[in-house]
Amino acid sequence: MLDFARIPAHVALVMDGNGRWAAKRGLPRLSGHNAGMAAMKKIVERASQLGVRHLTVYAFSTENWKRGGDEVSGIFRLLILYVDRELAELHGNNVKVHILGDYGKLPPDAVASLEKSLETTKGNTGMQFNIALNYGSRLEILRGARALAEKVASGRMDADGIDEAAMSDSLYTAGMPDPDLVIRTSGERRLSNFLLWQSAYSEFVFSDALWPDFGPDEFDRAIEEYQGRARRFGGR
Ligand code: IPE
Ligand code: IPE
Ligand code: MG
Repeated sequence: MLDFARIPAHVALVMDGNGRWAAKRGLPRLSGHNAGMAAMKKIVERASQLGVRHLTVYAFSTENWKRGGDEVSGIFRLLILYVDRELAELHGNNVKVHILGDYGKLPPDAVASLEKSLETTKGNTGMQFNIALNYGSRLEILRGARALAEKVASGRMDADGIDEAAMSDSLYTAGMPDPDLVIRTSGERRLSNFLLWQSAYSEFVFSDALWPDFGPDEFDRAIEEYQGRARRFGGR
């Protein structure tokens, strides 16, 4: 049974397996991404209902540009459709949209649609929905390190001031709690350059479900599994 009093504050998801879901059905990969968007919609709703404060989804990595141009542009087109279609409902549910990653490199129509969602929901106080887009954790850390180095070089900060809090504050996730739970679907057991700094003490749940098949029940089960874990953070 889910313990509603111990819902993780921050859940992060590696939404993996769209391509295999489509291949199993003899469909093009983009059908898998389309089904993946539908799955994401349901998980956002469920997480918000459960009282998750931060839901972070890995939607497009800095490495995903390696895929053919057709797949990449198709993913962004589906993303625009999702954002445009769901914005009113997200806003109605008091969800605040936030983007992690260098999303300015996305096609201009995708950037415009994302910025509209940021602007519309900026005052919302419910769940924060973080979409990782053109996100890679190594680049994120480098970018943060560079920003700190510039502060030191210009005399605005002492090198001694570079501590864990300063580093955390220099990342896309500044101000957010670290993820309590990281879920990856599709049976793959790796981080693929996701939240490397932030997941130092996260619990990991790996589901064999392909992302389009990962529904609210699977999400609840992952949280139950998380609730059964003993988190020690190095203590006894
Ligand atoms: C995850 O599904 C979505 C993105 C990476 C954009 P995949 O497209 O990686 O699906 P598989 O891993 O090929 O099955
Ligand atoms: C990770 O999935 C990125 C996203 C889910 C957006 P990938 O399918 O790109 O990861 P690898 O290549 O299997 O490690
Ligand atoms: Mg994959």
